Amino acid sequence: MTTLLHIDASVRAAFNPNPNHNSISKNIAKRFISALQKQHAIDEYIYRDVGVNPPAFINQDWIGAVFTPEEKRTRSQKDLLALSDQLIAEVSAAHLIVISSPMYNYGMPAQLKAWFDQIIRINKTFDFDLARGDFPLQPLLSGKRLVIISSSGEFGFDTDGIRANQGHLVPHLRTLSKYLGVEQIYEIASEYQEFADIRHQNSLAHALHQAESLAEKLIFVDQKSPVTQLEYK
Ligand SMILES: Cc1cc2nc3c(=O)[nH]c(=O)nc-3n(C[C@H](O)[C@H](O)[C@H](O)COP(=O)(O)O)c2cc1C
Repeated sequence: MTTLLHIDASVRAAFNPNPNHNSISKNIAKRFISALQKQHAIDEYIYRDVGVNPPAFINQDWIGAVFTPEEKRTRSQKDLLALSDQLIAEVSAAHLIVISSPMYNYGMPAQLKAWFDQIIRINKTFDFDLARGDFPLQPLLSGKRLVIISSSGEFGFDTDGIRANQGHLVPHLRTLSKYLGVEQIYEIASEYQEFADIRHQNSLAHALHQAESLAEKLIFVDQKSPVTQLEYK
């Protein structure tokens, strides 16, 4: 039994009357997921387009509800946490998580950050103990794999790239993934969208190819490794 949680974060639709406006990150994610589906590798599929339907921002009442012991929460506090409960349940159920995201202002869209803020929650996805010294937070979920699919207008955000210190999208997702219970990350990036030249065409073609080969690789790993299969299926 493999459950896939797919989160799209672009505010653009995958398909538009003008195809130049199509979300690149959503289309790469689509390619990856349809390659998995062709192999019947997904038993349950959970989808959220947080770019188009963003989760609410957390607020002071939300924090108050989170820090109120569960048995003491009022009806309205429970209602306030209902979305968070639902989003956490979806992450908990997932064996494989796909997050596709554009780079906005060198980081993730606010809509995707809102999703993480609803999910990374004390005593649900992490616990906190000062007895652990300088690292009091510990994730409560484990054993998941994450595919990060990103699209940017500029390029060179890798560690050896010309904008190595400006790219906060993928590094931020890597840091937060720990609190989703992620233990293995795969990354696919399309760059150069704003240049609209051959470098963009090549980058996008490469990302689409990577999406297909990663789907095959994940299926292959599951078939070959009984340990992974147990954890993953
Ligand atoms: C509001 C906004 C901010 C952006 N900021 C950046 C940025 O900081 N760096 C960058 O390389 N591209 C930036 N871009 C370009 C997008 O990353 C690029 O268009 C990407 O393909 C969008 O993803 P999508 O095609 O999935 O919608 C920005 C685009 C928008 C609309």
